[in-house]
Amino acid sequence: MKKYTEIKDISNLSDMIKEAILLKMQPFEFSELGTHKTLVMLFFNSSLRTRLSTEKAASNLGMHVSILNVNDAWNIEFEDGSIMNTNSSEHIKEAAKVISQYADIIAVRAFPGLVDKEKDASEYILQSFIKYATVPIVNMESATAHPLQALADAITITELSEKRKPKVVLSWAPHPKALPQAVANSFVEMMIEMDVDLTITHPEGYELDEIITKNTPITHNQTAALKDADFVYVKNWSNYKDYGKVLNEDPNWMMTQEKLGTAKFMHCLPVRRNVVVEDAVLDGGNSIVIKQANNRTFAAQVVLKRILENL
Ligand code: CP
Repeated sequence: MKKYTEIKDISNLSDMIKEAILLKMQPFEFSELGTHKTLVMLFFNSSLRTRLSTEKAASNLGMHVSILNVNDAWNIEFEDGSIMNTNSSEHIKEAAKVISQYADIIAVRAFPGLVDKEKDASEYILQSFIKYATVPIVNMESATAHPLQALADAITITELSEKRKPKVVLSWAPHPKALPQAVANSFVEMMIEMDVDLTITHPEGYELDEIITKNTPITHNQTAALKDADFVYVKNWSNYKDYGKVLNEDPNWMMTQEKLGTAKFMHCLPVRRNVVVEDAVLDGGNSIVIKQANNRTFAAQVVLKRILENL
């Protein structure tokens, strides 16, 4: 593996999931692989799971880890040819090359601004690192994608499915703040790669990018979508058409135990209780969110292992 910035970087998903599950059983089997190798993790935005699980994954492989909250460093300019006489002190062309000298792998988290759809779609931060860094790049959630989360989700469904082809529902939920589409995008892309029966349900107008959803069934009737579901993945995203707007906070879309029935409940976390999902779901036996978060380590570990093997 040369990089992991998008799901398309996985050549054989089934093998990758199997390898992640093996790493989970023996996390230290390749603890020499990363000796004298450094993972630099760059955070333009907050994180709990991604930061700690990726650090743990690298540590399981024997890597050294350096973490930089980018807001603590010099303001980086991304525009080519700009006259840097305002707030930016350093250009990505230098920054990425300099960081590459300290790192064998660079992992980047950079959320969208949710104001300029085209700018976010360009993935200018992630793409600039891919362009100017001289070492492999891992996406720890970018403007439009969260492929490490989606790999952890795929591992979780593979481990816990009691059927050959489970019914998986992605259900939009209300949220007071404008959130990115990244998690939902990557989850849909990943489920399309898996042998599952995927349905998406959201309020009218909340369609995701149809380049991502392809021909996945989409319904505005949450009750109908949830019928006979095996896994229900709940996630808010802000409006994609009226880009970045919160146009619907209808509490009727919150996931409840009654709606969930016997299905397993998934969420990438963090989650707002009694806004996105009621307490009874998270505190009940059908929630698999903690197992899902645990699999973030082994998703990151299989990615780092494969990149280290290719250095
Ligand atoms: N799910 C996820 O990416 O969590 P963090 O934002 O805490 O890293």
